[in-house]
Amino acid sequence: MQKIEWEKLPFGYYPTNYNVRCYYRNGKWGEFEISSETTINIHMAATCLHYGQEAFEGLKAFRGADGKVRIFRLDENAKRLQSSCDGIMMQRFPLDRFEEAMIKCVKLNAEFIPPYESGASLYLRPLIIGTGAKVGVSPADEYLFLVFATPVGPYFKGGFMANPYVITRKYDRSAPLGTGIYKVGGNYAASMRAHIEACHGGEYACEFYLDAKEKKYIDEAGAANFFAIKDNTYITPKSTSILPSITNKSLIQLAESLGMKVERRPIAEEELATFEEAGACGTAAVISPIQRIDDPETGKSYVFSKDGKPGPWSEKLYNKLRGIQYGTEPDEFGWTTIVEGI
Ligand SMILES: Cc1ncc(COP(=O)(O)O)c(C=O)c1O
Repeated sequence: MQKIEWEKLPFGYYPTNYNVRCYYRNGKWGEFEISSETTINIHMAATCLHYGQEAFEGLKAFRGADGKVRIFRLDENAKRLQSSCDGIMMQRFPLDRFEEAMIKCVKLNAEFIPPYESGASLYLRPLIIGTGAKVGVSPADEYLFLVFATPVGPYFKGGFMANPYVITRKYDRSAPLGTGIYKVGGNYAASMRAHIEACHGGEYACEFYLDAKEKKYIDEAGAANFFAIKDNTYITPKSTSILPSITNKSLIQLAESLGMKVERRPIAEEELATFEEAGACGTAAVISPIQRIDDPETGKSYVFSKDGKPGPWSEKLYNKLRGIQYGTEPDEFGWTTIVEGI
């Protein structure tokens, strides 16, 4: 086990020992290669550099209270990566090999898995990039799949404490028939200017986008889906321009199992005024309770938490989800993969 101040880890890159790579050449994926290099050597005309042929994923491995290591819903990340590949015409990485790569990567970096008590986790970042050389806009003939691991702490300040968010109207992150449903680099490049301009160097945790067509409905935050609670109902946006969050999908199932109603539908901005609780959710954010959402253009401020604490349903959902991830709650939906032998 490494000597790291686990409790103080930010959500950032911390060097680990190995990454796992696989190349697609001559029409097929090759064998896995284990590397301790942190750099990659690619052609200057690679499609990832010019035309954004890049997709990635983010998932976590947790050291549980019982000492076992669990990876959360890796099958869902494997499927979403395939969907992202389809969306930007890259070669799909096979589902079973994705699972094999995640397990390999966790085992190879086992000494960097944060201990249970720290509340930190080992973040896995798989990606696929087009490495084949092209000058005209067209899909590459060669690809690289790579996964690295890095221990991380909370994405938003204070972890499970409420943060302020802000609505941005000046920029769109994705379009209704665009690439927002895929986890591709271009979406994140498109969000950086909005983030910097809207969040004022940390005054807000993250920016919220409205639907690009009508600027009427809440889409999502820059790195997390949105949910709200009203009358024992879990409400989350239905939109063709947001990422299908695996955390959100899990919270929907947990909400139903806790006896809540669930609604997936467009959420008009004015409706924010009626919600009892609200949160941003994602692998990195887990549940990040929303203290308030400001709309600087209209001067409105929608407040969900006056004391900075999460609401009761958010807390229940958070505890249930974390419990499954850390092995203190039964994994009734079969969401975790136990990594044996570490
Ligand atoms: C834009 C965006 N929305 C939502 C999410 C949440 O998705 P997931 O719960 O699968 O991590 C992410 C990733 O963390 C994201 O980048």
